Amino acid sequence: MNYSDIKKIKKQFQGRDLLSISDLTKEEVVLLFEVAELLKGMQKEGKPHPLLEGKTIALLFEKPSTRTRVSFEVGTYQLGAYPLFLSYQDLQLGRGETIADTARTLERYVDAIMGRVFKQETLEELAQYANIPVINGLSDREHPCQALGDFFTLWEKGKMHKESKFVFLGDGNNVCASLALLSTKLGVPFTHISPPGYELPLKIQESARREAEENAISFSITHNPEEGIKDADVIYTDVWVSMGQEEEREKRKRDFLPYQLNSSLLSLAKSNVVVMHCLPARRGEEITDEVMDGPHSIIFDQAENRLHIQKAILALLV
Ligand code: CP
Ligand code: NVA
Repeated sequence: MNYSDIKKIKKQFQGRDLLSISDLTKEEVVLLFEVAELLKGMQKEGKPHPLLEGKTIALLFEKPSTRTRVSFEVGTYQLGAYPLFLSYQDLQLGRGETIADTARTLERYVDAIMGRVFKQETLEELAQYANIPVINGLSDREHPCQALGDFFTLWEKGKMHKESKFVFLGDGNNVCASLALLSTKLGVPFTHISPPGYELPLKIQESARREAEENAISFSITHNPEEGIKDADVIYTDVWVSMGQEEEREKRKRDFLPYQLNSSLLSLAKSNVVVMHCLPARRGEEITDEVMDGPHSIIFDQAENRLHIQKAILALLV
């Protein structure tokens, strides 16, 4: 892959939305990784890559963010475009203007919308009424940019293959859903360990199971952390209480306590296991300091790769 190939590949992607991992084929995901790798190299070498010169990307936030906001703003700037940060509270949306009218207005000004929202339906409505690409920067259902950055990280480290066991320890939440869909799509065996009642939504389970069958790999769910983590090559965790679930905090803390990623649990995985977390972490809850700052952690490599994968996404879609 070289810089001039991006223009050719773009024909296949331009104008499309990215609302779910299901919007991409395995081949398209690999193309995104190749573009991300190329742009990452160029950025490190200080070579300009203004693929979106003169464009404007709206970054719409209904919820707080550190990584998504900063990586999208910086990435958009590095591609030569203008990142327009829009907070829900400051828009007329916050005073009752409809999503459809907001979408129809924004499409007259900007070239794409990245949205972090409470409900997936908000993104679907934005995509329906705005004739420009809409990118999911986290919803209640999925976090596709996160999962793509994470598997790009595993791809770089040679851990994306049939013999690599990927384990998600924790809530069957938005991050877990995108990871389950992507892992099984890419042919990496996936295990979800959660307390009873915190499994992935059935629709996600069905899609992941279908992909796993097609790729002849396993997709399994267990409530037993010791059993699930055995022989793991990759172990991933996320907060017990996602944004919007604050009222359930005390119950969730009790339910998830036996599912903490600590040194004793980690010792059951393979000796060269890598530890992942999308961040922000609640140190001392889902993950201990020892594990987060220990030799297995690739957590900040993941955080960095959000920038590179999202630049690839923007460069191809917009
Ligand atoms: N991982 C992630 O999306 O982080 P932010 O909430 O800081 O954007
Ligand atoms: N599951 C978390 C991820 C944050 C990036 C949340 O939705 O709050």
